[in-house]
Amino acid sequence: MPIEVESPEEMGYSTIQYNLAESSVRDRTIGELGIDLSNVLMNYGHHRGLPQLQEAICEESKVLKAEHVLVTAGAAQALYLVATTLLNPEDHLIVVRPNYGTNLETPRGIRCGMSVIDLSFESGFQPDIDQIQKAIRSNTKLISITHPHNPTGVFVSQSTIDSLIQLGEKQGCYLLIDETYRHLNFKTPLLPYFAEKSNRVISVSSLSKAFGAPGIRIGWVISRDAKLQHDLLAAKEQMIISNSVVDEYIALQIFLQKEKLLKEVHSTLQTNYQIVEEWLKANEAVFEWFTPDAGAVVFPRIKKSIQIDFSRFNDRLYSHYHTVVGGGHWFEQNQHYMRIGFGYPTASELSIGLKNVINCIEDSVIH
Ligand SMILES: Cc1ncc(COP(=O)(O)O)c(C=O)c1O
Repeated sequence: MPIEVESPEEMGYSTIQYNLAESSVRDRTIGELGIDLSNVLMNYGHHRGLPQLQEAICEESKVLKAEHVLVTAGAAQALYLVATTLLNPEDHLIVVRPNYGTNLETPRGIRCGMSVIDLSFESGFQPDIDQIQKAIRSNTKLISITHPHNPTGVFVSQSTIDSLIQLGEKQGCYLLIDETYRHLNFKTPLLPYFAEKSNRVISVSSLSKAFGAPGIRIGWVISRDAKLQHDLLAAKEQMIISNSVVDEYIALQIFLQKEKLLKEVHSTLQTNYQIVEEWLKANEAVFEWFTPDAGAVVFPRIKKSIQIDFSRFNDRLYSHYHTVVGGGHWFEQNQHYMRIGFGYPTASELSIGLKNVINCIEDSVIH
């Protein structure tokens, strides 16, 4: 996936001064969180996940119980487990795009039938329920969406989600809702996990985006369907048996500080998004965009009327301005789009990085 090849991890964090390519908040240290690992026993962990961690994950819900939660190595593994458990080559899935790479690439690897529903700028990146309904086949096993959406940060409307749940129930297929950005709700109260609503809904999330802890690789998949939980556990056991007990211990300590950590994060996102919005408004002649409902990213589009040498733009932004953004091609979109992450940089890095982006666009205009 281009997002992996061109990610800041691959390019080297030390080579980037203004990192506007991340979809998460700034990474934290174990020391900063006051976590002491000296008594962690390095045994095999519980296969479903540390029980206290399962409890902590479903504390957000009055409906969900620990048995509905399977702890995984990040949301990425959760998505991989869902796809490989539910889909065989003779099956079919419906997936919205743009989307996180794994939601497209793993089903492609399985070589199952696939209907890609492209979201458009013109429709505010909202899935069209009629289009999804028309794509349903007798062998459709899964419908896959992301909410809050990556790379736009927009919410799928509640009425569309309700219709998709009804559709899944009627067709007997599952609805996967990738909720990896759920805790970056810096404008609105946290919604319950959608998996609460039906045993046909699978929710996936992780500690990677809002808690500054992507490196501990802790995510989870939530489903109230006991048979599916059993199959997902069997798949996890084939891959890793159990999670790292060190990761799980740290994750539990993070959950114990969750309210405080999220309060700080939401305040940073509010401040930083204001910087982005002012910049976008000052450059309305260049960009069009949708304001994110949540998350730490915005996905502006350079107006079609502006001709850009994108190869020069991409090279120069990194080599001359020491700045990176997520290219539209990371999401199988054209190069007029870019994903700007506003949760990771400091306010000052963000302001300079944004200035660099507009200067680099000016340097790359074809007159
Ligand atoms: C929508 C979405 N799902 C899943 C992931 C994977 O996250 P994790 O680090 O929890 O594996 C990402 C990471 O960017 C993402 O954007």
